[in-house]
Amino acid sequence: MVLEEDVLKKISPTPERRKAIQRSVNSLLARTREEADKEGLGLNVTLVGSVAKDTFLREPDIDIFILFPETVSRDRLEAVGLAIGKRILSVHEERYAEHPYVHGEWDGLEVDLVPCYHISDTALLRSAVDRTPFHTKYVQSHLSEVQKGEVRLLKQFAKGIGVYGAEAKVQGFSGYLLELLVMKYGTFKKVLEASTGWNRGTALSLDKKGTKKFDEPFIFYDPVDNKRNVASALSPNCLALFIFAARAYLKGPSELFFFPRQREPLGLKLIRSMLDERRSGLLLVRMERPALIDDNLYPQVRRSLDGLCALLASHDFRVIDRAYHVAEDLSFVLELEELVLSRGRRHSGPPAWIENASSFLERWGNEGLSRPFLEDGHWIVVAPRDYTAADGLVRARLSTAALGSDIRKQMSAKVLMGAEVLTEENRPLLSALLDKRMNWEV
Ligand code: UTP
Ligand code: MN
Ligand code: MN
Repeated sequence: MVLEEDVLKKISPTPERRKAIQRSVNSLLARTREEADKEGLGLNVTLVGSVAKDTFLREPDIDIFILFPETVSRDRLEAVGLAIGKRILSVHEERYAEHPYVHGEWDGLEVDLVPCYHISDTALLRSAVDRTPFHTKYVQSHLSEVQKGEVRLLKQFAKGIGVYGAEAKVQGFSGYLLELLVMKYGTFKKVLEASTGWNRGTALSLDKKGTKKFDEPFIFYDPVDNKRNVASALSPNCLALFIFAARAYLKGPSELFFFPRQREPLGLKLIRSMLDERRSGLLLVRMERPALIDDNLYPQVRRSLDGLCALLASHDFRVIDRAYHVAEDLSFVLELEELVLSRGRRHSGPPAWIENASSFLERWGNEGLSRPFLEDGHWIVVAPRDYTAADGLVRARLSTAALGSDIRKQMSAKVLMGAEVLTEENRPLLSALLDKRMNWEV
């Protein structure tokens, strides 16, 4: 299709760009080998990732792995790996989710410098990233020249609709997973067509079927290690969004799936009219952003949002929807059916013929807003709520909510509700809640 040819032209590296990238890669490899040799540990340095596989888009990152002999201890690997990276890269930061590595810049390109073990077989895996060199070799030897273009299209499509990347922020499709999908189905278009038949729990593989069962939304058995699910990071939402977008694209192809328009925050007027129509209420919680890398931050942000919802629900507030926004600070917004509840609530007690019914009567005889009364043989009372306003509840009980551990430490939370929330500075947060357009519909 002409559209896809056009897109492919736009995203494929030009010969000049390719040459420039190759030059940067060569100089970085040479420099890394030089530093690795100084350690005298018999380290190997190898290029992995999409530049090695020739499936990169216009602005790739360079992924370089430093392979350590298995005789080196884990602590030593971490220390030496980080030290080498920091000696080489100009702007660098340590990134540590489960495995340490250095992220930085070389010739204006982003670089990941990752230490791993040099293993002979993926069954002998020592650290989480030891499979990566095997992945690179597998793709290099199994993906045809034409299919590299198909991978590029699929990557750009996934990027455009917002599901590219296995990192915690996205929980989407990794580059390797998309490469395997192209190997399985042949072309970009065929992957989309096949996806319309996927379900939650669909399990795919290339030649040899995996036997291990995974309780994950989507399974692709790794051809270099069939005990592993390549799609383990994929969330149900990203899977669903991919399938939905594939259907929409097949019905009405458009460049907007690959290159969506910039999404501007909704205007306050529109936000106000949307909320007026619903007559719901907003509750905002804002706090300092903990100094964590994204891979650690986002899981905590999502857990905290769940914790806030649970806190509100356990006090009878009904949550319609919720969203978060990460900027210099961290903010959460919850849309509630009611921001303020009646002070009295119905509270059911034991049947009157049970012996300890008396303790119910004693307590609520004093504290109730009604006298206990009988209904179908049970004692009922109108009891006072501890918190009638959502903001008061959250202010008082935030520290008891199930928040992410580093988010719990940010004790200076600001809690607002109702009209107070509708300000200019909150537009990005409110748009995260209210703007339900798909990327390609913006
Ligand atoms: P990338 O995320 O860079 O993917 O990781 P990619 O295939 O090169 O695709 P693009 O084009 O950059 O988006 C490259 C490889 O390095 C490993 C991953 O497993 C992946 O196969 N890796 C990278 C890690 O395992 N951990 C890291 O922290 C970084
Ligand atoms: Mn890469
Ligand atoms: Mn990378």
